[in-house]
Amino acid sequence: MPTAPAVVRTPSSLRLALKRLRARRATIALVPTMGALHEGHLALLRQAKRRASRIVVSIFVNPTQFAPHEDFGSYPRTWKADLAKLADAKVDLVWHPDVRTMYPQDFATRILTEGPATAGLEDRFRPHFFGGVTTVVGKLFIQCRPDIALFGQKDYQQLKVVTRMAADLDLGVKIIGIPIVRERDGLAMSSRNIYLSIEQRAVAPTLYRTMKKAAEQLRNGKDLEAVMADAAETIEDAGFSLDYFEARHAETLSPIHSIKDGPVRLLVAAKIGTTRLIDNIGV
Ligand code: PAJ
Repeated sequence: MPTAPAVVRTPSSLRLALKRLRARRATIALVPTMGALHEGHLALLRQAKRRASRIVVSIFVNPTQFAPHEDFGSYPRTWKADLAKLADAKVDLVWHPDVRTMYPQDFATRILTEGPATAGLEDRFRPHFFGGVTTVVGKLFIQCRPDIALFGQKDYQQLKVVTRMAADLDLGVKIIGIPIVRERDGLAMSSRNIYLSIEQRAVAPTLYRTMKKAAEQLRNGKDLEAVMADAAETIEDAGFSLDYFEARHAETLSPIHSIKDGPVRLLVAAKIGTTRLIDNIGV
């Protein structure tokens, strides 16, 4: 059995453990997660291993990025299984603070980002979300002082927001984006996929299939508006309720009207039953 990584739960033990890891000029990669680890997370760990000599993973279900009506209480928490996966991946250190450690009773600070955080995608439907993400990720960067940090393209807008924040605040961490890991049928892996019923799970890959087809049509020169309208209809006909399905500039996230304005990224968020799925694809 692989040895379990060290787990630290307080800022002082984190500091001590990091000091030890940094000895002999090690480079440190941080992979922030909310646990319920799957192959998507593990791909980040594999890439981290290739780029740094020590890997720190944070597991913290961050309450400030959930609205009161969202699934903070029921978000999957699979600590034992997570730890076994982190041992297999030969992670060096797990930072697993509790909520009061990250947010003491009188906590009163928030990192407020604009630019990609106000692009009118996730922020339009989850207005609380990026304030929570940037505050917690900012804290994680300050606590762990990593050389690099890895994020999935699955949360494409989040990747852009965190990249902007790290640069704007001179946090000295290089952000690396990792391609989306998918199930065999194309569904993007997500900790929330376990919420899907058998019937919903069967329908869920429509999201990727439709985006993939739309991206192909756009590459073949079809009219953007027509392709997007057609794809949106296919997604809704499959039983999804769409929050958005948009073509955006892949770097700035600003709206585009032709693929000549590109590079282009298609981004979608849609609910099936009560489960909200997001996905995206490059054109
Ligand atoms: P979480 O949803 O646990 O995701 C942690 C990291 O794994 C994110 O960077 C996310 O983009 C990446 N990831 C998730 N599914 C993926 C997939 N199928 N393929 C590739 N990467 C994938 O995102 C968060 O947590 C939180 O917002 C966090 C950044 C930890 C801040 O609380």
